Amino acid sequence: MLFQFRHVSKKKPVETQKSSTVREYILHDLLFNINAHVPQLILGPSGSGKTTLLRLCNRLTDPDSGEILFRGQALTAYDVIELRTRIGYVAQVPVMLDGSVLSNFKYAIQKLNKNLPNGEEFEEECKELLRFLNLPEPFLYYETDRLSVGEKQRVALARTLLRKPEVILLDEPTSALDRTSTFRFLETINKLRDEMNLNMIMVTHSIDQAKILGGNGIVLVGGSVVEQGPVAEIMNNPQTEITKQFIEGMLDN
Ligand SMILES: Nc1ncnc2c1ncn2[C@@H]1O[C@H](COP(=O)(O)OP(=O)(O)O)[C@@H](O)[C@H]1O
Ligand SMILES: [Mg+2]
Repeated sequence: MLFQFRHVSKKKPVETQKSSTVREYILHDLLFNINAHVPQLILGPSGSGKTTLLRLCNRLTDPDSGEILFRGQALTAYDVIELRTRIGYVAQVPVMLDGSVLSNFKYAIQKLNKNLPNGEEFEEECKELLRFLNLPEPFLYYETDRLSVGEKQRVALARTLLRKPEVILLDEPTSALDRTSTFRFLETINKLRDEMNLNMIMVTHSIDQAKILGGNGIVLVGGSVVEQGPVAEIMNNPQTEITKQFIEGMLDN
């Protein structure tokens, strides 16, 4: 078992709870498991708590109650740096430091308090990864402000992969991409799953993407899990009215 969520709740900060129209919880009483080696999709309309759920997985945020286990052990029992090395996070909008792609890659390793491998060896490793992600090798020496959003998103993925995570958390990674870049990104994701056997948890509100990626799904609405199971089953035979509405696009505006 990769992750176990045991009655996990996360409240909104007190100041936003004052208005009676705002619900108190961002996430409420989450109870589910995430298996290893099966892609896990977190589905749901915007504002349903997907990003918060993902950020709980490597302690970018912590629950107010309940417990999360990673490989059978409480998340809080791990050293945070070790945890974030093993569980990499790719944000919705890629953030790069000024300077070259190479300097961004170096920084990602240094931040882990790890020594950089010798220069040439490290550059070769970076290039190999770029090739794997279907990015041109010379990208390594590009200034990051020359990259398109789609290229940045794949470079951000490469930067996370360099740290050799066991799990990657992807938060709507294609939301800023056009159709072609989205398709390429999804191809890359499937390649990582098939060839690197990487565990992934991906947030999406796109039904089309969910169908392409498959795996297991959790449908989150209003901070609660309304349905879970294999994505294909959820799509073909939704068990709740609210899941049907989500699939039909009635919950997003
Ligand atoms: N730090 C926070 N303070 C107050 N409200 C928050 C905070 N983080 C998230 N929320 C609220 O919780 C809900 C879920 O947010 P989020 O996890 O970003 O949802 P999603 O990724 O599904 O769009 C939203 O209503 C959002 O405004
Ligand atoms: Mg989000």
